[in-house]
Amino acid sequence: MRAVVLETAGPAPHLRDAVLPDPQPAPDEALLRVTACGFSHHDALIMEGTLRRGVTLPRVPGHEVTGVVCGVGDGVPASLIGTEAVVVPGDIGHRRDGGFAEMLTAPVASLVPLPQGMAATGGALLASPIGVALRALEACGVAGGETLVVTGASGGVGAHAAQAAHAMGASVIGITGSPEKAQRLEGKPWLDAVLLDDEPWEEVVAALTGDMGADVALDTTGTSLGRLAAAMRHGGRIALVGQTSPDAAPFAPAEAIFRELTLVGSLGVERRHVERALSLVAGGQVTPLVHEELPLSVESVTRAYRAVKRREVLGRVVLRPVGF
Ligand SMILES: NC(=O)c1ccc[n+]([C@@H]2O[C@H](COP(=O)([O-])OP(=O)(O)OC[C@H]3O[C@@H](n4cnc5c(N)ncnc54)[C@H](OP(=O)(O)O)[C@@H]3O)[C@@H](O)[C@H]2O)c1
Repeated sequence: MRAVVLETAGPAPHLRDAVLPDPQPAPDEALLRVTACGFSHHDALIMEGTLRRGVTLPRVPGHEVTGVVCGVGDGVPASLIGTEAVVVPGDIGHRRDGGFAEMLTAPVASLVPLPQGMAATGGALLASPIGVALRALEACGVAGGETLVVTGASGGVGAHAAQAAHAMGASVIGITGSPEKAQRLEGKPWLDAVLLDDEPWEEVVAALTGDMGADVALDTTGTSLGRLAAAMRHGGRIALVGQTSPDAAPFAPAEAIFRELTLVGSLGVERRHVERALSLVAGGQVTPLVHEELPLSVESVTRAYRAVKRREVLGRVVLRPVGF
């Protein structure tokens, strides 16, 4: 099969278009023909060598995968063949080859079948970023009627968290770093306000909440934690999901102490979040935000990587193994 392999990570990551032996499913695993795979910030961090946790190289990256089952290992019913499913990632893209390939293997227990008619490009986003966003919203416990601030609101996790929170009845304030993206976000029905990161948005949050402060925040960038804490009401909750820069965010503990804030980290996604994501997407309450669809190749992975690093992406770039 054809695949894109990350040989070495670093400031100039080395990728190559490769022909690899077709993977073989182990017992309790399925072999999938990949239909789509998201390129995430997480992949960019792995490529540049910032994110090393359990990643072994060389590796086929890509953990936001949908595929059609085309083979099964021992103990798996052959009736599964032909099912299109999204994969709950686990160690895919870290210790197990991922979806920047024509095929991959995955434990059968990690497959969530897609309903007929759901597009693979959107389906690939169900576990991450949509399920990841749902888990983080669960961690901070957002409820209808509350005000949620989302940093990195143009990103994969941020934009889908905003949609899901809006569907739950929350008012959502999105923070973005660029006026171009602010323009593209304004008018999205799931954002009640779009604020620019280099403006004093804490003051606008205060004004929008009658000087009370936000009830909940979801931080996908890690670069604004101190400002977020200052924008919260007494007893507010902040879910920490991402860190887009190695620099620590300035953060004064007093802001959290005097407000008696709860800060909670959220990591990964479980099957139930993917199933919930599927029902929200099938019900039209969340729409997968696909920035661009590209044919899988080193050139496309490099293009997606550069777009993420330049903060040009709204939602996700999705790679599809077509044209091989
Ligand atoms: N905890 C978990 O389980 C989990 C799962 C998935 C992802 N993550 C992490 O969560 C973070 C967001 O993931 P994502 O998939 O939403 O990423 P993404 O799609 O690239 O979005 C991140 C957003 O953050 C903003 N940003 C601020 N500073 C940035 C910087 N220095 N470089 C790039 N973007 C920056 C950008 O928006 P503006 O330009 O509009 O500001 C960008 O759209 C990443 O750190 C990722 O590794 C965590």
